[in-house]
Amino acid sequence: MVRNFPYRSETLLQPHDLEFRMILEHPRSRNSNMAVTGYLHCEDGIFHQWVEGPEAELRIVERCIYESRSHYGQTILSRDAVSTKQFLGWHMALGVSEKNSLFDFVAIQGVRTLHRTEYAAGVLAFMRAQFDTTSPF
Ligand SMILES: Cc1cc2nc3c(=O)[nH]c(=O)nc-3n(C[C@H](O)[C@H](O)[C@H](O)COP(=O)(O)O)c2cc1C
Repeated sequence: MVRNFPYRSETLLQPHDLEFRMILEHPRSRNSNMAVTGYLHCEDGIFHQWVEGPEAELRIVERCIYESRSHYGQTILSRDAVSTKQFLGWHMALGVSEKNSLFDFVAIQGVRTLHRTEYAAGVLAFMRAQFDTTSPF
């Protein structure tokens, strides 16, 4: 089984900050070593991240995400155990708001963000749409 947990958090970092880029370097190699994959979207100071992988490894990654001082207000949107990964081969893909807007997507689709499960499903649909039209890096 593959575990996953999408969450959202807030940050003062901007996508072009050096620190922002560095945030992604460490996790990518850690995720790669632990068979963890996912998608990180940053828009208007809000991170949404989908993280998925084996249970024990995911617990380690979750702790790293929680302990990071680069963001705050981490809120888990859902937790699930499924048979397949959503972002196979992507050890942490990145989307930034200049290209595509999650907030626009959620508004157009009428996703109720106060309804956690529906919010998580909307976030996944948005990320999958980016993932399906981009190549891994
Ligand atoms: C938005 C965000 C996403 C992160 N994603 C991951 C991840 O996917 N895997 C991981 O091991 N750590 C992840 N981390 C944690 C970082 O790898 C790293 O431990 C942390 O940024 C270093 O601590 P600091 O931010 O307090 O300097 C993430 C951190 C942030 C802010």
